[in-house]
Amino acid sequence: MSEDTQRRSMTRRTRDFTVLIGTTGVVLLLLVATGALGLIEALSALGVIASVAMAYFAGSAARVPRSVSEAWPEKPAPDVAEASPALLSALPLPALEIGPGQKIAAYNRPADDLFQLASLPFARASAVIRSPVLLAAIDQALERSSLGAFSAELETGPDETWRAHVSRIPAGKTVLVLLEDLTPVKRAARARADFLANASHELRTPLTAVSGFIETMRGPAKDDTAAWPRFLDIMAGETDRMRRLIADLLSLSRIESSEHMLPRGREDFTEIVAASIAALQPIAAEQGITLKVEAPSAPIREITAHRDELIQVVENLVSNAVKYSQPGSEVTVVFGAAPSLAEARTTASQRWELSQRMTLLQALARSQLPEAAVWLRVEDQGPGIEREHLPRLGERFYRADQSRGGKITGTGLGLAIVKHIMAHHRGGLAVETRLGEGTAFGVWMPAARD
Ligand SMILES: Nc1ncnc2c1ncn2[C@@H]1O[C@H](COP(=O)(O)OP(=O)(O)O)[C@@H](O)[C@H]1O
Ligand SMILES: [Mg+2]
Repeated sequence: MSEDTQRRSMTRRTRDFTVLIGTTGVVLLLLVATGALGLIEALSALGVIASVAMAYFAGSAARVPRSVSEAWPEKPAPDVAEASPALLSALPLPALEIGPGQKIAAYNRPADDLFQLASLPFARASAVIRSPVLLAAIDQALERSSLGAFSAELETGPDETWRAHVSRIPAGKTVLVLLEDLTPVKRAARARADFLANASHELRTPLTAVSGFIETMRGPAKDDTAAWPRFLDIMAGETDRMRRLIADLLSLSRIESSEHMLPRGREDFTEIVAASIAALQPIAAEQGITLKVEAPSAPIREITAHRDELIQVVENLVSNAVKYSQPGSEVTVVFGAAPSLAEARTTASQRWELSQRMTLLQALARSQLPEAAVWLRVEDQGPGIEREHLPRLGERFYRADQSRGGKITGTGLGLAIVKHIMAHHRGGLAVETRLGEGTAFGVWMPAARD
């Protein structure tokens, strides 16, 4: 019996009681007035009838279903909806109120989004909750009158974890199930652990090589001084690799720690690109690669940026293009302005037909209105990148050519740095590639407001 029916039957009984006493009173009054009944008899009759009516009233009030009256001797209790629905709807986490028989009595919008409850009217908890542990906890909470709270982690998918909190609603007979999404927390913890493991591994590899050669030069090759220059070359290469790795790790950590500080300085994008290219020309020349720049004909809007960080973006993209291309090929840097972020993205990263494309970072629009933007595209004639690698570019330590066993050394941090910096500038990053023909990386970001 719900709270509503309880209340309705109560009003009905009160009404019957009043009508009975009222009519009896009127009839007796008429009889007294006409002299048919003495005043004393009339009053005693009214008393008798009133006590009979009182007895009926009390009796019918007690005639509630046994199970409910036994569980709630002090007052008739409702079956469901004991937590205020308003309270549930104010909760930002998925919440369900579950009543006897595991019936879902109430839920809020996040819970509906999670379980699609609107399409399952009057569902039982077991229809939407798959975890036997959680269902058992709900049963226990429903049966036990104690208010012990229960919480458990539930693996709901390969990379999805929720924590469920089950608690009995005080002085009620329903339980509240509150769900908390642990997925991002778990993912961050795993990323941190992976990062540490990767960083230590990457540092240990060259260190092992160096100490190996030291041992060789002390022992077996002690007198083979003719071989020493070769060993020293390898050792120098390995220490160089460690130095680069540490430099990349440091710049990644610097970018991360300044992430909350938005770029302030107003910079000239054309000048930033020119400065970066000037530094890269000698490296390209050394590799036998022609580095070309196509600058826009008209001056472009200023940007709000960290100059050093944007220089790092251009340097990383161009040095990758140079590093992964064959001598004799060309690397082209094109840049310009666009009336909106969307157009900047298209111009920067969607130029080739029959190419594989992937947006690695989406620029966040500040408003619905188009926002003036700048873009830059670095194109090479290198080997291209196989499709399966594309989604993982920009992950720390991810190197697509690891399996190729190439001699090209790298840290696998360059694109992670680029992605981080572009995110810091509310910009985007995308790749476009054709196997055997070349790769292009595009970046774009909003221009400074006037
Ligand atoms: N222009 C490019 N052409 C082909 N592959 C590229 C290019 N740029 C990046 N890659 C691939 O992406 C991976 C990640 O790049 P990056 O983060 O700069 O690391 P690194 O250059 O130190 O290996 C590289 O290892 C390489 O496999
Ligand atoms: Mg690189």
